[in-house]
Amino acid sequence: MPELAARDHLERLPGLLDLALRQAAVTPADVDKLAVTRGPGLVGCLLVGVGVGEGLAAAWDRPLTGVNHLWGHIYAAMLTRPDLEPPLLGLVVSGAHSDLVRMPEHGRFEVIGRTRDDAAGEAFDKAARMLGLGFPGGPALDRLARQGDPRRQPLPRPSLPGLEYSFSGLKTALLYRLRDLGDKVTERDRADLAAAFEQSVVESLLAKLDQALDDNPVGEVVVAGGVAANSLLRRRAAEVVGGRARLTLPPLELCTDNAAMIAAAGSYGPIRPADVDPSLGWD
Ligand code: KG4
Ligand code: ZN
Repeated sequence: MPELAARDHLERLPGLLDLALRQAAVTPADVDKLAVTRGPGLVGCLLVGVGVGEGLAAAWDRPLTGVNHLWGHIYAAMLTRPDLEPPLLGLVVSGAHSDLVRMPEHGRFEVIGRTRDDAAGEAFDKAARMLGLGFPGGPALDRLARQGDPRRQPLPRPSLPGLEYSFSGLKTALLYRLRDLGDKVTERDRADLAAAFEQSVVESLLAKLDQALDDNPVGEVVVAGGVAANSLLRRRAAEVVGGRARLTLPPLELCTDNAAMIAAAGSYGPIRPADVDPSLGWD
């Protein structure tokens, strides 16, 4: 899979670049600076991206800066809210991360909470697969949950001390429930289970955000990453944050991975090395 993904990057990037320039109606002369993702991600894909970035930087004679993918998710929020500035508290929920971070100033992030096992997006994708919704199943599970009632097939709500998450027990509970239902499982059961699973993940994510906001009072909260496209999370985040801080959720197309968020993060601060970083963190 990683090999196929890297090959896909190699084949599609040049055409995609042409298309992006055409759609944005810009020429290389309009570009001041180039930004490329340096990690976290699949190393083969990162190497392709950095290679193309270096090639363009040389051909266009422009500086190239390396961007952390997770920073990009936070900076996506600033694209639609130009007056959004740190200090802020962020919840970044994606296919590989469920991180609570403090951002005291531009370019500085401190992780204060994370998952012990699965990330929220990974949990949604695995649950969606169990419910026969394909991959990545987060958006399909979101749609199915809208037709269900979370109270009819309740699932446990993960609760760990402090600001840690865990979704593996919830995933196992869904597996056993589906096993118990066996062939008798109805469309309504599936919708109810999707709603219950979604509710457990969302309430668990927000309980820790609530606690983190109490511990670290700030004026701005950002909820970002692919899972921030989830409709229940969007609605409940606004209720949980309430009047304590201003909440920014990027629009749907800027929640899931995109290049604009990398450009936004790259436009701030000094030029950073564009070397591929194999680590999974926020450095
Ligand atoms: O940030 P992202 O696009 O890629 C990573 O950096 O991982 O996040 C992708 C994740 C996937 O797990 C996908 O299922 C999930 O975001 N996702 C959703 C929704 N839209 C995307 N999960 C729940 N509800 C959604 N509406
Ligand atoms: Zn992402």
